[in-house]
Amino acid sequence: MKTVEHQLLIVGGGAAGLRAAIEAQEKIDDVAVISKVRTLRSHSVSAQGGIAASLANIEESEADNWKKHLNDTIEGGVDLVDRDAGEILTRNAGRNVIELEHMGVPFSRTDKGKLDQRPFGGHSMPRALYAADRTGHAIVYALYGENVRHETAFYDEYFVLDLMTGDNSVSGLVAYDIKTGELVVFRAGGIILATGGPSQAYELTSSGKASTGDGLGIALRNGIPLEDMEFIQFHPTGLKARGILITEAARGEGGYLRNDRGERFMKEYEPESVELAPRDRVVRGMQREINEGRGINGENYLHLDLTHLPEEKISQKLPTIRELSMNFAGIDPVERPIPVQPMAHYSMGGIPTDTRGRVQGKEEGVTWNNLYAAGEAACVSVHGANRLGTNSLQEAITFGKRAGRFAAESVRKNHAGDVDRTTVDKYESRLHSLLGGEGSVRCYELRDRLKQTMTGKCGVFRTRHDLEEALRQIHELKEDYSKLTVEDSGKKFNTELKTALELKNMLDYSEVIVEAALARKESRGSHFRTDFPERDDADWLVHSFIYRSSTGKLKRDYRPVSPGT
Ligand code: FUM
Repeated sequence: MKTVEHQLLIVGGGAAGLRAAIEAQEKIDDVAVISKVRTLRSHSVSAQGGIAASLANIEESEADNWKKHLNDTIEGGVDLVDRDAGEILTRNAGRNVIELEHMGVPFSRTDKGKLDQRPFGGHSMPRALYAADRTGHAIVYALYGENVRHETAFYDEYFVLDLMTGDNSVSGLVAYDIKTGELVVFRAGGIILATGGPSQAYELTSSGKASTGDGLGIALRNGIPLEDMEFIQFHPTGLKARGILITEAARGEGGYLRNDRGERFMKEYEPESVELAPRDRVVRGMQREINEGRGINGENYLHLDLTHLPEEKISQKLPTIRELSMNFAGIDPVERPIPVQPMAHYSMGGIPTDTRGRVQGKEEGVTWNNLYAAGEAACVSVHGANRLGTNSLQEAITFGKRAGRFAAESVRKNHAGDVDRTTVDKYESRLHSLLGGEGSVRCYELRDRLKQTMTGKCGVFRTRHDLEEALRQIHELKEDYSKLTVEDSGKKFNTELKTALELKNMLDYSEVIVEAALARKESRGSHFRTDFPERDDADWLVHSFIYRSSTGKLKRDYRPVSPGT
């Protein structure tokens, strides 16, 4: 069996993983990034509208500062934001953007040559730095270039199966080389999980096909809790039936949402901020219009109208969405409104970390020694119950960088442990039984059923009845998974096997999402229970933690929101 050794392993090559790698490589010079896809295809490249920082660069944002950014973030997150983490995010945001600019991100500029800033929902002033509507793409390419300069090692197209653990610490991981079908052991003094979010568990999502939340599954398998998983963000403007992101910047630049009667219906729901209210509120307004029959032609979509904006503005500031809309809907937004509908976009919850990125254990106050997490896979609690647009890229950069720094400092003292043969044997036999089984169940059918369950029963509006039914269906799916067979017996690029492995993770964390949603008997941010429509601070101003106990049962725990110092 092939064995590779590095001081620090980073799983995931999106914005958080790449930023962590640069920081760590500057300190220890033996960092490797392992990615399920080619690194430059990581989902962060799809981020469009911008990255938040209170740079106060334009007239409308002259009065901005980090405290206002923090207040907006806390208010948008409906008070479930940990104040210490929020303060780190907002204080460091400006410096991080300037660093990115120096690494080569071509941020759009004002006529005076300053970095331009545009409005986004829930931000009280224009705060989004942007590179037209390709901000994530520009950032990932710059970070990748910087990693090449730092000689970071890259292992593309490896699927990480599990960690090798012992006593709240890691000694390496077992991965499956998608290109050859071989198992490979990576030994290391420390690991950062930056594996992205879980939105592929839903039918319609802006997230790339690779966003199957594998790190969440890995965490659960190792007794690590997942935090605040009931808070799944739906983005208001997915291109109808496609799940392609039409950036919120389209509304930031002046776009309107209209119903079948041509009305700007958000005026009814949010008279002050209208289309630029926080996402959870815009999505609920849209869903109500659709549910009450005012979708376009009575169907489940609405219109995003940019036809009143100058063509030059659309072409300069929103070129990608013009192209996407023309290519995938046959509609030029200069002439006709874009058909849009809400879609799963982001998970506020994830693997709990402290502000240094260290993974938190199932007992309160217990921290893993050399295991870190960052980006959407992590929950450092800066987004609370609802993230503001553009805060995720900033979170990935701020906390990716910190995880890289603190992990590098800790691995200086750690040596890679021995190869854990038990974990290797377990996965060898699991792959063998998936490939050699004779059951009739196929992964694609199960995956579709899971997506239907999550979309139909654990979406924008939730009820006890639906969530209980979702849990029942997930248990049934898990039972069926045990009879799953992979028909394709090929070794190279066996995508059916990869899908089957991803599905295991998806089933495991979807159960947690539903359990957490069922338990939270209130409405807050993206979690709206029609049977408990009010926010309830007396009982529910707490983070939820769910982990799998040694008996195999899910256990729940709640911890307070950090007030900061
Ligand atoms: O709409 C967007 O451009 C998305 C931004 C975000 O989720 O931060």
